[in-house]
Formats: sequence, C-alpha cells, structure tokens
Amino acid sequence: MKLDDVRKLFPHLKTGKIYFNHASTGPMSQSVKEKLLNLIQDRSGEKIDDYKEFLKTSEEAKTILAELINSEPSRIAFIDNTSNGINIIAQGLNLKSGDRILLNDIEFPANVYPFLNLQKQGIEIDFVKSHDGIVSADDIINSVKDNTKLISISYVQFLSGYKADLEKIGKYCKEKGIVFSVDAIQGLGALSSDVKKCNIDFISCGTQKWLLGLQGFGFIYISEELQEKLESKYVGWTSVQNSWNLLDYNLKLRSSADRFQNGTINTFGVYALNASLKLFKEFGFENIENRVTDNSLYFIKQLMNIDYNPILPNSTKENIAGIVSIKHEQSKEIFEQLEKKNVICAFREGVIRFSPHFYNIKEEIDVVISKLQEIKI
Ligand SMILES: Cc1ncc(COP(=O)(O)O)c(C=O)c1O
Repeated sequence: MKLDDVRKLFPHLKTGKIYFNHASTGPMSQSVKEKLLNLIQDRSGEKIDDYKEFLKTSEEAKTILAELINSEPSRIAFIDNTSNGINIIAQGLNLKSGDRILLNDIEFPANVYPFLNLQKQGIEIDFVKSHDGIVSADDIINSVKDNTKLISISYVQFLSGYKADLEKIGKYCKEKGIVFSVDAIQGLGALSSDVKKCNIDFISCGTQKWLLGLQGFGFIYISEELQEKLESKYVGWTSVQNSWNLLDYNLKLRSSADRFQNGTINTFGVYALNASLKLFKEFGFENIENRVTDNSLYFIKQLMNIDYNPILPNSTKENIAGIVSIKHEQSKEIFEQLEKKNVICAFREGVIRFSPHFYNIKEEIDVVISKLQEIKI
C-alpha cells in the first residue's frame, strides 16, 4: 500500500488544518468511518443482532493486536479504557503492607492513581526522578528496593515523548521476579512492541490515540504466568467457561485473558479497532514505525534550526516515538497562535506537544515550522 493511498483515507488532511495531535485523540480513517456507518445501518435495519459476526471481528482484531505486540490472541482482552486495565493489575496482585511499587515522576496519572489507591493498604509507592523528560532504565533499576514487587511505566512518556527501554527494564524484572506492567497508549499504533523479548507481564492500552480507534475502548495483554497469580476482583457472566450455560452458575473462570471481559463488549469499539488495525497491517507495522520516528527526528532537527528547544534534543530512533514537545517561556501564547494558524497540537503542563502520525509528511512539518517562524513573541 502506497502512502498516497493511505493519505486518501484521512479526509481531515483536506480541511486546511494540520492535525498533529494523535497523542490526544486520533482521527477516524475512512475505513473506520465506513465500517461504523455500515454497522449503524445494520443495527437499525436488517441485522440488529449479529453475534457471530461480532465474534469473528473480535478474534480478527485480537489476532492483529497479537502480531503488533508479538503475543497470542488468547492473551488479549478488551476493556473500556487504559485506567481500568491498570486497575485490574493494581487490585488483582493482592500486594501486602510493606510491598512497594515503582513508578516515575512524569507518568500520566492513569498509571499513577490506581497504584496510589493501594497506599491505604500499606503499599508503598516510589517515584523514580526523571531528568529532562527522560526516565532511563538505569535510573529505574537503581531505584528498586528489596520489597519492590511491581514496576509500571509508560511505553512512551505523554509529555516528553521519551520511549522507555522496555527490553532492559523487562530483563531486570525477569531476573528479580518483579512484575512488569506497561501503559502502552502513547506507543502502540505508532510503534509495535515485543512482549516476549521485553518480558512484559501486562499491558494496558486505550485505542483512541495512535491506534486510531474509539474513545472509551481499549485492551489488556496479560501473560499466562501473571494471569495464574492475579486474582480477578471483578467477574461477570462472560468471565466463565461455558458462559452460555446460563443457569449453570459454575464460577470456573476462563483460562484465556477473556476472563477479564466480564460482560458485553463495546461492539463499535471492536469494529472500529479492527478496521484500523487492518490498515496498519496492510501498510506494515515496521513501515509505520520508521515513518513515525523519521518524522519526529526531522521535526526535532527543524525546530532546533529555528532556535526552538525540543525537550528531547538528542533523540535517536531508539528512544523516540511520535511525540515532539517544546518548552518555551511563552508556550501558552505560542500554542494559541498556532491554533489560530490552523495547527492543532496540545498544551499540557507548560509544554507544547506535537504528535504527527505515520501518514503525515515532512512537508506538513515544514508548514508548522514556517508558522512557528511567523509567530512574533
Ligand atoms: C500515558 C497515558 N495513559 C493513559 C491515558 C488515558 O487513559 P484512559 O484511556 O484511561 O483515559 C493517556 C492520555 O489520555 C496517556 O497519555
């Protein structure tokens, strides 16, 4: 599939606005839009209840997700959002008073509050100190204490865009018997991952950003080994084996990750995700990753050429994804002016965050650079 053909699937590219805000919310591609419109048509007309088609689509989507993270489809469960996925591990591990969890001081709160919520049970939360937007694997490893039972980190930091060295952290966790959990929402879709190579036990990921799916829909990956240790704090009628034996009341949980899908799944979320993933697969996960990182590195270079300060000036392909952020004393004014000039990005914590995706091109980055040059502050 050629890039020009992909770009035709994103009608927003013709609006005259430059949308560099995938780290907030991804747009719907034409494929997703058509799938959803068809579904609405079906649900209001001839095919109101098509459970078989839903199951097939769900399996298809899990199969592509499994390819994206190098796991098996049976290790993936659909959930509603990243936060609730993280609560599954936070609550299910049954940590005890005195046990410790290691986070860092620039995590998005979705990956913090589910763990802080355990403090009332005597569980201690440690925060690794970041340096200039970077949370290095060495700093994490050096912050581990005797009772550290879990490390949780974002694949890609939501503000700085720093991509964690999951392989190094995962190797260490494996050696020390520490559970390794990843909030992957700012990575997957822009990047792929390898849960086996990185020894990741758990992923939680919403689909509304880089995966170009729906808001309020996501998935978890859970390794077989972790699932055996994890208690399901919530269960429902579809968590069990033979769930269609409705009056059997046999609370025997499924052995696959499906046990965490307690009830009816968001059908629209599944159809949208599947349509989006098919496009990703057709274009190629590796091609996507290369384009995303090339764009970011080009963007950083151009920003420095016009004397703007990217938060991560020394990035390489190994530690960057799709987020490029800048700090400036007048960042709010700059952000507001960019908005007036039809450049859509985000303003968070005094930082301007740009997040182009794989189908964006260098010419669009050049336009943003020229708009920045026009701004007089
Ligand atoms: C790192 C990270 N995790 C999680 C979220 C969102 O969490 P949820 O899907 O629970 O809304 C965001 C952004 O909204 C994020 O940047």
